Amino acid sequence: MSQSIWSTRPADLYGRRRRDRFSTVLWGVRVLLEGFAAMSRWKPSRVRPVQRKIAAVITQRELVAPDVVALTLADPDGGLLPSWTPGGHIDVVLPSGRRRQYSLCGLPGRRTDYRIAVRRIADGGGGSIEMHEAFDVGGTLVFEGPRNAFCLGTAERDVLFVIGGIGVTPILPMIQVAEQRGIDWRAIYAGRSREYMPFLDELVSVAPARVTIWADDEHRGFATVDDLLAGAGPTTAVYVCGPPPMLEAVRAARVEHADAPLHYERFSPPPIVDGIPFELELARSGTVLRVPANRSALEVMSDRDPTTAYSCQQGFCGTCKVKVLAGQVDRRGRTAEGDDEMLVCVSRAKSDRIVVDA
Ligand code: FES
Repeated sequence: MSQSIWSTRPADLYGRRRRDRFSTVLWGVRVLLEGFAAMSRWKPSRVRPVQRKIAAVITQRELVAPDVVALTLADPDGGLLPSWTPGGHIDVVLPSGRRRQYSLCGLPGRRTDYRIAVRRIADGGGGSIEMHEAFDVGGTLVFEGPRNAFCLGTAERDVLFVIGGIGVTPILPMIQVAEQRGIDWRAIYAGRSREYMPFLDELVSVAPARVTIWADDEHRGFATVDDLLAGAGPTTAVYVCGPPPMLEAVRAARVEHADAPLHYERFSPPPIVDGIPFELELARSGTVLRVPANRSALEVMSDRDPTTAYSCQQGFCGTCKVKVLAGQVDRRGRTAEGDDEMLVCVSRAKSDRIVVDA
C-alpha cells in the first residue's frame, strides 16, 4: 500500500498534522534526501545461478566405444538449448533421483542439440549404469545447466591437451575451438586400445599432425608422465582430463612450472589430503558414523544410505550440502559453504565430532 508524505509527517504536540506550506516544503525535502541516501546504500542482491530444470528429448543413442554410449539431446519443441562453452557440462537428474555431471562434447556452441557421452562403470555408484539403461531414443532426459569450470583461456597461445579415455569429452570441443583460434596446440590421447577410445577419429580429424595416440595395447603399457608431457615447455598451458592417477602424475610433474597454466577436470573425487578421522553424528537418527582419514564423510554416509544425494563429489555443485548443528568444519569445497553448512563430499572436521541435520 502506498503512503503519502502527509501521513508520515510528524504530528505536533497535540497530535495534529497541519499542512502549513513552510514545514511541508521542509518535510518534502527531507523525504527526498532520505530517499537518495537510501538509494546510495542500496546494493544489488547476489545473483544466484538459475537452477532451472530442462527436459530434453533424446534424438540419438550411439555406442561410440564398447562401454561408452553417446546421447544427443534436443528441445522437444525444436527450440534452442541454452548457450554453452567448451569444457562445460550439464547436471543430469536421473529417474532414480541421482544426479550426475556429463561434459558437452558436440560441436562447440551448438544449441540445436547437445551431445554427452557416458562410460559404463560396473563398480561405480550406479549412475553410469542407469544412464546406459534408462534412456533410449524418444525418451526424456532432465538436466540443469550448462555450467563450466574448465574453460579454455582466451589468452592461450601454446597448449597441450592430455586426455585419458572418457576424458576426451570436455576436451574435444576445446580442441576444435583451439584450431579455429589458431592456437599452437598438441594433444595426446591415451587409452587401453583404439577401440576403447571414444571419438578418436573425430578428434584426429581436427588436425591429424597435432594429435598423438597412445593405445596401451600397441605400446605394451601405460604412457609415462614424460610421454604425456612430451614437448610441454615451461610456459605451455596444459589441459588434462582423465583418470585420477593421470591427473595426479601431470599435476606433480608440472609443479616445477608453477607459473604455467594447468587446468584439469576430474570425473572422480579428489584424493584426500591431510585427512584426520572424525565422528559424524546424524542428528535425525542419532547415528554416529566414524569417518576414517582416507575416506570422505559422503562415502561413509552412502555406505549407510545409498540414496544419499551427491553429484560432482568434488565440492563444487553443492548437491551434498548439509546443515551443521554442532562442531567445527574444515571447509574444502570450491563452492560457498555457509557457517552452518558442510559439503560432505570434500569437507572434513576440525573438531572430534560434527553433528549434521541428516
Ligand atoms: S557432491 Fe558436489 S559438492 Fe558435494
